[in-house]
Amino acid sequence: MNTPHQTGSEPLPSVLPVAQRPSRDQRKGRYVPESMRHPGKMLPALAARVIEAFTTPGELVLDPMCGIGTTLVEAIHLGRSAAGMEYESDFAHLTLRNLQLARTQGASGTARLVCGDARNVATVYADLAGEVALVLTSPPYGSHTHGQVTAGRKNQSGKVEKAHYRYSTDPGNLAHRSIGELLEAFGHILAGCGELLRPFGVVAITVRPIRVKGELIDLPGHVAATAEEAGLTLTDRLVALLCGLRHGGLVNRASFFQMLEARRARDKGIPACAIAHEDLLVFQRATDLARRRR
Ligand SMILES: C[S@@+](CC[C@H](N)C(=O)[O-])C[C@H]1O[C@@H](n2cnc3c(N)ncnc32)[C@H](O)[C@@H]1O
Repeated sequence: MNTPHQTGSEPLPSVLPVAQRPSRDQRKGRYVPESMRHPGKMLPALAARVIEAFTTPGELVLDPMCGIGTTLVEAIHLGRSAAGMEYESDFAHLTLRNLQLARTQGASGTARLVCGDARNVATVYADLAGEVALVLTSPPYGSHTHGQVTAGRKNQSGKVEKAHYRYSTDPGNLAHRSIGELLEAFGHILAGCGELLRPFGVVAITVRPIRVKGELIDLPGHVAATAEEAGLTLTDRLVALLCGLRHGGLVNRASFFQMLEARRARDKGIPACAIAHEDLLVFQRATDLARRRR
């Protein structure tokens, strides 16, 4: 199923092969190297594909939880305007550096960034009310799916260690909240974004199921329900591949810890699979859709 509001010339297919190149290669030369320390970045190819599908040059793209700025960087490379918020000053600085780099590479769009709590997005960006064509974002989901590995000789302990799997120790960072609290806060953020959307604007959220102590949590389903409560209606649910496709098969790009978690679950008799995709949930304001039906 394709959404009726796509503005690009070609409708999006429901499966997006956006990991044909590993994340690191997609970022090489396009993002400052320190960006890699962020534990849960969006694939640049995914951001670019969604922005092209749902906006035209000159339109405004917002990411209220922008991390190191993938949405903003890809938007300005595509000639869109961009606005972002990020709670962590470290990541906000990396966003600024990534935007500067994009400008030196000829990105023509303009961008604004505020370091702060996205629950205030409607107030912070009140001047953008009715202007945002696309909100593209993903919520933080703690340590379950994120993290990087330092192994053996590098960390001197000889053991494999997980690094950068939490965003900071600040409780204002929603990655530290329980799933219930995270969803409640995310609902506030989505309601705020809804106030800034232009008529028939789109909200696109990437999110994947997580395992907490072996239990599978349907985070995409919970996010969809939260968004509906915030006044949005789900108009499409797509698959963004996190694996590559080559010679008729899948190229695994799951992290060391994702593979380890799946193996541990299987050892306990839980038939867990290695993660190879995430959901891309697409919404519009319920009030806009009601108007279209009239
Ligand atoms: C999944 S990451 C987004 C990564 C981003 N898409 C990128 O490619 O860099 C979620 C981000 O939300 C940020 N965050 C957490 N709580 C926040 C809040 N209350 N307000 C704004 N940002 C927040 C985290 O610091 C994290 O960078």
